[in-house]
Amino acid sequence: MKIIQAKDYNDLSRKAANIISAQVILKPDCVLGLATGSSPEGTYKQLIEWYKKGDIDFSEVKTVNLDEYRGLPKSDPQSYDYFMHSHFFDHVNIKPENINLPDGMAADPDAECARYDGVVRSLGGVDLQLLGCGRNGHIGFNEPADCFAKGTHCVNLTESTIEANKRFFASADDVPRQALSMGIQTIMLARRILIIISGEDKAEAVKNGFFGPITPQVPASILQLHPDVVVIADEAALSLCGLR
Ligand code: GLP
Repeated sequence: MKIIQAKDYNDLSRKAANIISAQVILKPDCVLGLATGSSPEGTYKQLIEWYKKGDIDFSEVKTVNLDEYRGLPKSDPQSYDYFMHSHFFDHVNIKPENINLPDGMAADPDAECARYDGVVRSLGGVDLQLLGCGRNGHIGFNEPADCFAKGTHCVNLTESTIEANKRFFASADDVPRQALSMGIQTIMLARRILIIISGEDKAEAVKNGFFGPITPQVPASILQLHPDVVVIADEAALSLCGLR
């Protein structure tokens, strides 16, 4: 695991965008695993800027997103499908048929999860998986639990996640209670993982996730076992780790 210290959110976003950009240059038809939330917003903004300058080409890139809320249609501005289009896809030359997200409106969530795992497999797996991290150490929507979930599955969101994500909704009552999320095994099968973490409210998650024991109570801690993980965290997120 390589930990890269960034000065602040802007620095973190540029460093992350550089790694993604290098991946796309080295393998133009790569499979990118993508994430939502406020953490990757700056990274997507930077990638769009470089695309507009002609520095990156997404025409052969394929994407698979980590997760989607259950019960929100794609047209809902809070759905992750909507987020990805407005923050990234609509601004670069990615082909619509190369974009994949779980369908949060599927009538049979288990069948949808199985379909989604099939999609990831049929693409040959993920080359580079971008991750954010929840305050409780969740990755994707893999919440603290007694065991690590394997494939894509339907998750009940914890109070802490509902609380953290309510800022995007009119009230906490409007936050969906369930989501479809890639499992820990799906994430761990990615050939390379890039996790970006910013802000003091994530300092505990960074300390427990990367410097504590590996436990499903801190889902990000499993990343310590992955052979190729890059953590980019800013000074605020690293403040409890005594690294300087
Ligand atoms: C959500 C997403 C995660 C994301 C996390 C942190 O719950 N499912 O993929 O990493 O929140 O979000 P943020 O980056 O906004 O702090």
